[in-house]
Amino acid sequence: MNKKVFVKTYGCQMNVYDSQRMTDVLAPLGYLETDTAEAADLVILNTCHIREKAVEKVYSELGKLRDMKAAKAEQGRDMILAVAGCVGQAEGEQITKRMKAVDLVFGPQTYHRLPELLEQRRSKGRAVVETEFSVDDKFAGLGREQVRNPLSRAVTAFLTIQEGCDKFCTFCVVPYTRGAEFSRPQAQVLDEARKLADQGVRELTLLGQNVNAYRGVAVTGAPSSLGKLVAELSLISGIERIRYMTSHPRDMTDDLIEAHGSNPKLMPFLHLPVQSGSDRVLKAMNRGHTANDYLKLIARIRAAQPAIALSGDFIVGFPGETDAEFEASLDLIREVKYASAFSFKYSPRPGTPAAENKNQIPEDAKSGRLARLQAVLAEQTKTFNQACVGLTLPVLVEKPGRRAGQMIGRSPYLQSVHLEIGTDHLGQIVQTQILAVGSNSLSGQYRPTEKGDASV
Ligand code: SAH
Ligand code: SF4
Ligand code: F3S
Repeated sequence: MNKKVFVKTYGCQMNVYDSQRMTDVLAPLGYLETDTAEAADLVILNTCHIREKAVEKVYSELGKLRDMKAAKAEQGRDMILAVAGCVGQAEGEQITKRMKAVDLVFGPQTYHRLPELLEQRRSKGRAVVETEFSVDDKFAGLGREQVRNPLSRAVTAFLTIQEGCDKFCTFCVVPYTRGAEFSRPQAQVLDEARKLADQGVRELTLLGQNVNAYRGVAVTGAPSSLGKLVAELSLISGIERIRYMTSHPRDMTDDLIEAHGSNPKLMPFLHLPVQSGSDRVLKAMNRGHTANDYLKLIARIRAAQPAIALSGDFIVGFPGETDAEFEASLDLIREVKYASAFSFKYSPRPGTPAAENKNQIPEDAKSGRLARLQAVLAEQTKTFNQACVGLTLPVLVEKPGRRAGQMIGRSPYLQSVHLEIGTDHLGQIVQTQILAVGSNSLSGQYRPTEKGDASV
């Protein structure tokens, strides 16, 4: 009989990718995906450790699942409870000690061994914790033959090409939870991309914590680059759009910048976090560049691709941040003009250098700064979206909308666009005239062209 697995995903897109691959490795064991914990025989929390009370949230969720597991046991039903992801990696045995109902704990580097871990759990009769950074290649162990389209017949897909981080920004937990930088070999990435294209995927988002630091080996045996990989991927028939995230300013190489100008499949959208506009704060964060370096880089990127839309990440209230240093972030934002951005209050992460700093900024000061910064960013997003009204943009039709006869797609700038169009256009790129800006999306009207809609 088939068993059911429910994976609850927190955190970044790499976790979304990992969750999909977990269900892939479990499929041969007879596990089907379900969307509630109640219906599941195996519940996996794929956790994130990046900010705020990540660990406490996991324990509170585990508390509820422990009660559910007990209730199911009374009805004679088994439920295996697993903690995966970055909290699993960071907390390890602490979790099974504090929460006896947990059967399995593993990290982002070990989930390809899930079938074996489940078997160990069964044969040992006690909790199994597996958080070693394994030396074997996780991706090679994922049984790529089974790559199913994760989002069931999705038009877009995530593809992790690089993992881990060697940069050690002083605020960040990722180098500890995801380990050292590792790039998948180019041939392996191309193989997975071809399979996705065959399944109907039209847009790939290449993922990595430092995706532009990609150095996977090419078939020649020499290290490749993200620019070269994008060039190869754009030759795959069916793949019409390529995106990547998240990039670090220090790894924005010339060939990648050049690709933005010359490769029409590489979308004119770039998420390039800077975190702060103050040189003193950037140094204390160990970002390895100044505000001016970033601005010069943006100028080069815009010279290569004038249409590019920029996105960023910002942290307010990093330890010791003065009012003037915070103002420097606002200045930088005003200068760059972002199409969209994410911003966060600094959150001390256990074990990271900035968490030890004595000059922590009070919570209310952080909240005040965040509100001001977000107001400026929201205004910029509005301006950017409004400037699209009247333009005809190529929209990739991704899924049905809420209303009958409505579909939702994305513009090259990652804006979500609602349009009235038949479901037969799913997976096509259609010329759409933007008519209005809503709170989180645009609406537009399909404008058929003589040359048809197959490509941009
Ligand atoms: N690798 C990416 C970022 C990964 S984490 C990069 O280097 O740009 C995603 C975002 O979370 C970061 O860009 C940062 O803005 C935010 N972040 C990370 N650690 C944080 C912390 N301790 N407190 C608040 N925000 C944090
Ligand atoms: Fe974290 Fe910095 Fe690495 Fe990004 S570059 S994952 S912020 S340590
Ligand atoms: Fe979170 Fe881990 Fe991603 S900490 S942001 S899930 S790399």
